[in-house]
Amino acid sequence: MTGGGTTTEILEAPPPPSLVAFEEAEGGVGIVRFALAPGEKVVKIGPAFAEALERVLERLETESDRPGVVFTGPSPEMFVAGADLEILRDVKDPETARALAVRGQKAYERIARLRARTVAAISGPCLGGGLELALACGVRIASDHPKTRIGLPEVRLGIVPGFGGTQRLPRLLGFARSLKIVLSGTRYPPKAALRMGLVDRVVPSERLLELALSAAAGTLPIRRRFVPLEARLGRFGSPVRSALAALATARVRKETGQRFPAPYRAIDLLRRASSLPIERGLEREAQAIGELATGPVSKNLIRIFFLGEQARRFARPPSGGDLPTIRRAAVIGCGAMGAGIAARLADAGMTVRLRDADAAAIARALDRARREFEGKVARRRLAPHEARDRLDRLQPALDGSGIERSDLVVEAIVESLDAKRELLADLAARVRPDAILATNTSSLPIAEIARDVPRPERVVGMHFFNPVEKMPLVEVVRGPRTSPTTVAAIASLTLALSKTPVVVGDGPGFLVNRILAPYLQEAAALLQEGMGVAAVDRAAREFGMPMGPFAVLDEVGIDVALAVAKLFAEAFPSRFEPPRLLEALVQASRLGRKSGAGFYRYGGGKKREEDPDLSRTISLPPPGEIPAVSRLVDRLFLPIANEALRCIEEGIVERAGDADLASVLGFGFPPERGGILRWALEDGASATLDRLSFLRARYGSRFDACPLLVSLATARATLP
Ligand code: NAI
Repeated sequence: MTGGGTTTEILEAPPPPSLVAFEEAEGGVGIVRFALAPGEKVVKIGPAFAEALERVLERLETESDRPGVVFTGPSPEMFVAGADLEILRDVKDPETARALAVRGQKAYERIARLRARTVAAISGPCLGGGLELALACGVRIASDHPKTRIGLPEVRLGIVPGFGGTQRLPRLLGFARSLKIVLSGTRYPPKAALRMGLVDRVVPSERLLELALSAAAGTLPIRRRFVPLEARLGRFGSPVRSALAALATARVRKETGQRFPAPYRAIDLLRRASSLPIERGLEREAQAIGELATGPVSKNLIRIFFLGEQARRFARPPSGGDLPTIRRAAVIGCGAMGAGIAARLADAGMTVRLRDADAAAIARALDRARREFEGKVARRRLAPHEARDRLDRLQPALDGSGIERSDLVVEAIVESLDAKRELLADLAARVRPDAILATNTSSLPIAEIARDVPRPERVVGMHFFNPVEKMPLVEVVRGPRTSPTTVAAIASLTLALSKTPVVVGDGPGFLVNRILAPYLQEAAALLQEGMGVAAVDRAAREFGMPMGPFAVLDEVGIDVALAVAKLFAEAFPSRFEPPRLLEALVQASRLGRKSGAGFYRYGGGKKREEDPDLSRTISLPPPGEIPAVSRLVDRLFLPIANEALRCIEEGIVERAGDADLASVLGFGFPPERGGILRWALEDGASATLDRLSFLRARYGSRFDACPLLVSLATARATLP
């Protein structure tokens, strides 16, 4: 039989659970409880949720004697995580998107108009449409559960709150606070949400429902502590709002130019909330959703979100079995990278033995971790005892003792093949035969490092980016003999460290450094043609990169960049030239920020300045003509895309989406452009091929299109 179960199964199957259920509590108070859809981990707002909510509201609207209603989630770990992003991803026409917003707005408007007292009992994520629902209630009580997060993160996805948030928030908290909450997209922990005025009270998780029921029954008075500034400003409110709006607009323009439309719309909607009737404000909000949700920026940001979700597939056990448990780890080499890696492992609950040839490096690593955790305590991200526990889990192992019991060893010693080979062979003889040996190498082949290790299937690359605490990506490098279980275990560990894994093959520079290399090379070529350091960097920033290429090189260190550039010149001589410019800088001891000068000069702490002396170190032509912006952008960024396509051809990376995700998380390619390949191929492969051919004719063979691009263009095909 196809298309479903047998007749008996169908008859006996329980009806699908309603996503919004109604329960009676004592004293006539009602509980509206949201439920998880089958197979889902979070409560999302979609058509089934809306329908179920509307049904419950119909019932509540007919009642005249109910004292109160509590709206709450299915468990202490979940309230409502927001609108279903799959729907937002797929909606194509503005009218449909607008109608989706109107439906949500109407339901929430009905909650706001109920005769009964309404109380949102929040525990777990209460985000986006979830918070907008809570804002429609009269009172909001949050639990102190560690998973509680409250906020309106919509602008991060290129839209604005669309279920009444832009109208109810300023009415509740005033314009200034609403701006801060909406423009930052912050997910506030409970106490911070209380300080912001987003909730009226924070209570212990286990008493949440009891106290919410009392508030709904009217036996627990809730005093609102926060009085919006406007309420005190009276007739001066309007000019103050205008001034604040102008300041916020100027800041958005300075930080992101015209790249993101949502913040501008948000400022306008929030500001006008006080002068327009709510119905009119809601109409304008829905109109904004129609336009923003179907525009390219939101589509690309949502795409990156889903690519991040898809990266979870890397952590699936290969044949459905279990992955090895990693509780005890060791980090060998506690310099810039090792110290950061050790702190992350301790943060995620592992005990970590720290080893380094230099005892002072271990002391520095511990000190750095202590400062990091104390900083988190000061910012109320960690309780003092949590910080202490993390520090206690970091254990120096000067003589190497205790390492033999590790489930995982991560090496982050000097970038030398001989040293790493020797270390891994030694470790392999000491640890359990099934312990995983991971290397943080940025350029050496995993196969070579694992050469002398018996059972090389347990050797894997775990390539973190610098600085480890900030950078969200880890390249999990699959050597030719690495087992799928080892790869999945490290991908799973990466997720446990709150980072995103992308599995890549074992080739020069793996994925991220390899695709970045032609970009840095092209920047150097522009310099040699007479375009200034600052002008090239500015062009890259205007395109949306967080830093220009020369600022990046100075941060990485010119000596380090030189070693990597040499590697590419050797591996791919047809398109990478020996890096003479970097060599000249190293000879002049201009190693970047760490030496006080590189492409820029550094003084007074962090300040980066243009350096007139640079042209004496490296012979540069007099300032030349600055190419048109589009040409400049193509010269800098198309080679990245071309190289990414080569990585797909060679199997270094599995899918175009993985390269897109890695470009955004690994080197800050502007997410609103959807990733390097999405951007490069957005007008079709043959347009990309034409643009590259134009550059090839002018600047030579380094712009040769790769075979995959040519075949995509010929077949008029797109990448999966
Ligand atoms: P680092 O020089 O700051 O730290 C290396 C540490 O290893 C030093 O404390 C040194 O005393 C210790 N060490 C050297 N040989 C040792 C041995 N045989 N046994 C025990 N300890 C030893 O270097 P960094 O920057 O932390 O780099 C470490 C590794 O991470 C390298 O493989 C590098 O390619 C890689 N990497 C570096 C990135 C960066 O931006 N710095 C980014 C990604 C990877």
